[in-house]
Amino acid sequence: MADSSVESASFATQANALLRKNLIFQKRNLKTNIGLVTFPFLLCILLFLIQTLVDNELDKASNKCGCICVDRNGDGTCETVCGIEYSDLDQVGTCPIPSPSEWPALLQVPAPEYRAVRTDSNAFPDLPNESCRSTGSCPATILFTGGNRSLGQSLAGSFFSSDFPPNTSDVLNTFANIISGSDTYTGFTNFLEPAFISRQPMYTVQPQCAPNSTFFVPIQIASVTIRQEVRCVQGVNLWRDSSSVVNEELYNGYRQANVRTREINEILAAYDFLDTNENNFNVNVWYNSTYSNASANSASALVRAPRSLNMVSNAYLRFLRNSATQILLDYVKEMPKPGTKLTLDFSSLLGALFFTWVVFQLFPVILTSLVYEKQRNLRIMMKMHGLGDGPYWLISYAYFLVLSIVYMLCFVIFGSVIGLTFFTLNSYSIQFLFYFIYVNLQIALAFLLATMFSNVKTATVVGQVCVFGSGLLGAYLFQPFLNDATFARGWIVVMELFPGFSLYRGLYEFAQYSLEGNNMGTDGMRWKNLSDGKNGMRTILIIMFVEWLLVLPVAYYLDQVVSSGSGVKKSPLFFLQNLKKKHLPVLQQKLSFRRQTSKVFVQMEKPDVLQEREKVEQLLLESNTGHAVICNNLKKVYPGRDGNPEKLAVRGLSLALPRGECFGMLGPNGAGKTSFISMMTGLTMPSSGTAYVQGLDIQNDMDRIYTNMGVCPQHDLLWEVLTGREHLLFYGRLKNLKGAALTQAVEESLKSVNLFHGGVGDKQAGKYSGGMKRRLSVAISLIGDPKVVYMDEPSTGLDPASRNNLWTVLKRAKKGRAIILTTHSMEEAEFLCDRLGIFVDGAFQCIGNPNELKGRYGGSYVFTMTTASNQEQEVEKLVHRLSPSAKRIYHISGTQKFELPKQEVRIADVFQAVEKAKSMFTIYAWGLADTTLEDVFIKVARSAQSFNTFS
Ligand SMILES: *[C@@H]1O[C@H](CO)[C@@H](O)[C@H](O)[C@H]1NC(C)=O
Ligand SMILES: *[C@@H]1O[C@H](CO)[C@@H](O)[C@H](O)[C@H]1NC(C)=O
Ligand SMILES: *[C@@H]1O[C@H](CO)[C@@H](O)[C@H](O)[C@H]1NC(C)=O
Ligand SMILES: *[C@@H]1O[C@H](CO)[C@@H](O)[C@H](O)[C@H]1NC(C)=O
Repeated sequence: MADSSVESASFATQANALLRKNLIFQKRNLKTNIGLVTFPFLLCILLFLIQTLVDNELDKASNKCGCICVDRNGDGTCETVCGIEYSDLDQVGTCPIPSPSEWPALLQVPAPEYRAVRTDSNAFPDLPNESCRSTGSCPATILFTGGNRSLGQSLAGSFFSSDFPPNTSDVLNTFANIISGSDTYTGFTNFLEPAFISRQPMYTVQPQCAPNSTFFVPIQIASVTIRQEVRCVQGVNLWRDSSSVVNEELYNGYRQANVRTREINEILAAYDFLDTNENNFNVNVWYNSTYSNASANSASALVRAPRSLNMVSNAYLRFLRNSATQILLDYVKEMPKPGTKLTLDFSSLLGALFFTWVVFQLFPVILTSLVYEKQRNLRIMMKMHGLGDGPYWLISYAYFLVLSIVYMLCFVIFGSVIGLTFFTLNSYSIQFLFYFIYVNLQIALAFLLATMFSNVKTATVVGQVCVFGSGLLGAYLFQPFLNDATFARGWIVVMELFPGFSLYRGLYEFAQYSLEGNNMGTDGMRWKNLSDGKNGMRTILIIMFVEWLLVLPVAYYLDQVVSSGSGVKKSPLFFLQNLKKKHLPVLQQKLSFRRQTSKVFVQMEKPDVLQEREKVEQLLLESNTGHAVICNNLKKVYPGRDGNPEKLAVRGLSLALPRGECFGMLGPNGAGKTSFISMMTGLTMPSSGTAYVQGLDIQNDMDRIYTNMGVCPQHDLLWEVLTGREHLLFYGRLKNLKGAALTQAVEESLKSVNLFHGGVGDKQAGKYSGGMKRRLSVAISLIGDPKVVYMDEPSTGLDPASRNNLWTVLKRAKKGRAIILTTHSMEEAEFLCDRLGIFVDGAFQCIGNPNELKGRYGGSYVFTMTTASNQEQEVEKLVHRLSPSAKRIYHISGTQKFELPKQEVRIADVFQAVEKAKSMFTIYAWGLADTTLEDVFIKVARSAQSFNTFS
């Protein structure tokens, strides 16, 4: 069996054909493409608008340095006053402060309701009475201890001077001379002392509070003067026997410590004088460091400690000298600082999550388009016309890569043009490398995932879940781990093996660098930064690259082994088979098949079917036959599912077809014709047996068979947006037609199926009528002169004129090639086919040319007569007189059909008998007909089915 077929198209030719088809396809899909590419553009615009809004908001007068909102007359309304270096605590962080204000040093005084009092559960009877809490007049307690109690007592006694009421005309001096404090929380800096800004009163600690001892201090902030209320609070000094007692009392008074009693007894401060004497001043000071307004890291907030040191130092001085001696602590003051701009970099802040979605968005797009070609069987259609997997992969991959790159370029360029720092600050070469590696990985992953889906909707849903899931998991699971310095870095790398997380990490790194760059005025990520310890970019670039290298071959492998859309599933070790095959002569293989299969057949077969089987076995022994198709005992069994028994769709089909023959397969629906065609075209694998097309085995050589094969599927597999001519050009190129030959073949093809005139061939196939699509499908199956053509009901849905036209085409096309045709139209079968096979329940019931069959199965006339129903008996009698062995095959309300064996009746007798009968009763209508193919078909199908139901 020499391979006398057309030389198959080279890799480059196939790639070229596919590329041209894809380009046209893209051109037609311009709207979708523009939509896809403008998506990042719109997104960047959106970000830009939000950023502008945020900037505008930040730029408002009330946010500007040097203006403050002041409640001048205490009625709750405030007015904006400018002219100072900073306005409020929030702005202190960003405004330039060349000469910071001087603020009095204060004590951290507990708020009145928390101050320590005597209760039943604490063991200190010397604490103030609890009743003071209701009036808010509780004293503030200072504890002290030390090696010498009398010394300690005299020191503690001179903590507070009673210089009262103070001279308030000089604020700093006033506060330097009295012991004052506040219960407000401190900030991170002391550019503004919260005690003077808040509306809460301040306190001055006195040994005794006189009635009406509250006074007001005028505080000057820029041009505004605030009246700050200063209340008197009584200071109580209490001796404790040891530092551990002090400790315990402080601990139990702490707001959250005493779980059992829920008592709060806060202490102003505590001192341990240790071994202090006249020559030696040695003191431990307890102060509360947990007052701060920042829950996140309270450690960095300021503490009001200097005044408590100054207080005890002055007490010691007075003990050594006299009560008038003191060191004044005039003020505390921050160091000057430069201003920083108050900005909120929206793009960097949202970057990682937001852009993960944007970049990942391509994934479902690619996945869906791959699955679409599979679901619509377009891929197998292309394959059946000779498109190899190699060019398909190459061109699809390249196409998606270009699409992705354009998408990413648009994304980065738009983002940069509108000035998002996420793009502008980081090195473009790193960004390019990152996105490039990532989109490659993404395409490979889409190919991998596409092998697992056969439905576009499922694929879309899964793709979108991947997109949003990865973004959200990245932001709420992965990022917290990333920020947690104690989390093992090794596990971070493990998590990054998931491509969604590596994408997230990369974008997160860009965002971090641009955020920092924006705040600190530094550059974003540069190549040298890749070696930074905390920079994860290098790791993920390596991870993604290695994953890409791994995923691509795996995807290709699965596509061959698992995928249902690319034709025959190859065995998991298909590459080994290829090696083996090269060393085995074709004939030897066939013989081994023969031995296995020839003895299987036991069921009784009709002689013509048996004869065909023997012919096939004979042909298999010969080395060179002119036969285009040889099927040897082909079987297809579908495994039982959900408790149903397994289904024998094709049970041992043997058929030999020489070139130039058109073989018609007739059979009721569900007989197994489509299963047979599917096996022959490589859509499914035979369960046993095999077939040879042009001497090539369909189990191993499908790829080569495809170059010599044309298929006209039952349902038109066409691209809606391509024109008829473009379809033919594409498939013609796949069949290795070039240049003038191609143009000519396409023209002729269009003419032959009547699609040439009126420019029909240049209309998009989506706009064709059903008949036009059908004709185009037939033209496609015939282009490039294939040696074997399968046609699945080619003329269904055609008007009689186009059908006759098509038949002429097919009749002409028969020369030099074998055509296998399934049809329900007996007329078509009779007109086109040289031989017919009636296929019922997975097996041929008979094989032969139409006239033979009619002779064999139709050795009778069909006599029809319609009378009134009460005359049925009469008619039956009449017929039996004519032919004793006549059979009634059909009767309904007066109309009866009989089969009269040809050897028993003469037509003349029938006419006479009817003439006679007319005089006896009324005959509405009658007829005598030779058997048609239809009668044969119905007879054969019926008898086979009844045989099978009883056996
Ligand atoms: C305690 O200090 C006082 C002076 O304030 C001194 O007179 C006395 O000797 C000291 N006591 C002891 C045990 O050192
Ligand atoms: C208050 O202090 C100012 C300035 O230090 C001084 O001029 C004024 O006389 C003082 N007033 C009293 C009543 O001591
Ligand atoms: C110290 O300050 C914190 C925070 O306000 C408070 O909860 C706690 O009770 C204070 N501790 C003492 C011993 O005063
Ligand atoms: C922190 O400071 C703000 C004003 O800056 C104030 O409204 C808030 O109550 C403070 N928080 C605490 C716990 O005191």
